[in-house]
Amino acid sequence: MENRSQWGTRAGFILAAVGSAIGLGNIWRFPSVAYENGGGAFFIPYLFALLTAGIPILIMEFTMGHKYRGSAPLTFSRLNKKTEFVGWWGVLVAFVISTYYSVIIAWAISYSIFSFKLSWGSSTDTFLTGDYLHVADPGQIGGLVPGVLIQLIIVWLATLGILFRGVKKGIEVANRIMIPTLVVVFLIIVIRAITLPGALEGLDAFFKPDFSKIASPDVWVAAYGQIFFSLSIAFAIMITYSSYLPKKSDITNNAFITGFGNSGFELLAGIGVFSVLGFMAVQQGVSVDEVVSGGVGLAFIVFPAIINEFPAFNELFGFLFFASLVLAGMTSLISICETYIAGLVDKFKISRAKAVMFGGGLAAIISFMFATRGGLNFLDVTDYFINQFGVAVLGLVEVVVVAWLFRKLKEYQKHANDVSDIRLGSWWTISLGVITPIVLGYMIYGLFKQNLTKAFSTDNGNYEGYPDSLIYVGWAIAALALVLGIVLSLIKWRKGEEEVKSIQDREAN
Ligand code: ALA
Repeated sequence: MENRSQWGTRAGFILAAVGSAIGLGNIWRFPSVAYENGGGAFFIPYLFALLTAGIPILIMEFTMGHKYRGSAPLTFSRLNKKTEFVGWWGVLVAFVISTYYSVIIAWAISYSIFSFKLSWGSSTDTFLTGDYLHVADPGQIGGLVPGVLIQLIIVWLATLGILFRGVKKGIEVANRIMIPTLVVVFLIIVIRAITLPGALEGLDAFFKPDFSKIASPDVWVAAYGQIFFSLSIAFAIMITYSSYLPKKSDITNNAFITGFGNSGFELLAGIGVFSVLGFMAVQQGVSVDEVVSGGVGLAFIVFPAIINEFPAFNELFGFLFFASLVLAGMTSLISICETYIAGLVDKFKISRAKAVMFGGGLAAIISFMFATRGGLNFLDVTDYFINQFGVAVLGLVEVVVVAWLFRKLKEYQKHANDVSDIRLGSWWTISLGVITPIVLGYMIYGLFKQNLTKAFSTDNGNYEGYPDSLIYVGWAIAALALVLGIVLSLIKWRKGEEEVKSIQDREAN
């Protein structure tokens, strides 16, 4: 316990936390979520969720990791033995996310290579689903797609290699290299984007508020979902990362830097993406809403089409864009996998190397499912269910456990204030104790109440053709994360209850 790994420097920790936060969610998900949910008006629920849930929960998770010095399961078992399952649940949600997140990075690697020759040709949609992914009908699995599998193996070898080297020599070093590179590359792209003809039309579409939308609960669910996924909160990551902080570490300030850094990057991505969409719309003489598309379609169909039309250096900008997806994705994937590596090391007392091999190896093998011809459809469903019924519900459970069931807010507030420059006051306790449980609780109640098959097709208008069986798979995956979490929490700690108990007591003082 005493020789738990630690970050080398404060900057190292911040870069790793920011690296975890900035990911595919910022570049691939945020721009279309914002656009679909009211454009400029979306910023109201977004900012509300950031300030009353995102940053307060981030501070809470940093405090818990720092105070209890354990992976998410160990942290929650130190909070109270009965809540260990919450930690495992988060770890398992992260595990599921890692299995498809890695696949999107694999696609981005392929597309970085395709950029050199603009191999996607002029019909980028049929290239993605036909020539590249060979997509099968929804619900069918089909064979493995070699062009995805090879890149996927590369992603896993790199990720597990970095994790194998440990917290300081592996994760910290990787983030020190990748995050500054990402920021420079992304700035180059955004500067080019906003100077393209038509950029203003795109920005206008992005920022122009559609106030009729913000009364809809779906928009608020989308804002909370985006904040949680993007900040890497409520799925074990930030607890794990902050458990490697030295005793004398600032918590609150670090959380603000991470939260605002992430949202700043997100906004930058939105500006960049909508500038090029405006450019595309003007080129084709259509309006921006005719070229915008969500998720996978935006990055892998619309972007290649835009790259085709770039006035100059098309190949270079194609490469830079997909390389930045790879960089942003890798630093997040590392943090997602670290949750279960840390959990295995703590609970089963195995070496880090074994945990990387076992946990990472298993995730890698399962991820091959998404490298099949049915992978794209399966990915959509898994992503939807694990986010709504994994991440969002977990966020609520965490807050209720800490604030209401065990009434720990005051204690954590003092812990954070003792080590931080910025002092937490009633904003933090009211956000976590009152606002978030009520707003999030109401939203999640609504989510369950809806007919879920219908909710799924409404939210994802493109995927209406999905068979029910696929939707049940989504449900099963989300439920399994909770059930397995409970099962894991019932297994005895290898180090023995006594030791855990004594550590619990020691840490509590
Ligand atoms: N926070 C990571 C992202 O935004 C998971 O992609």
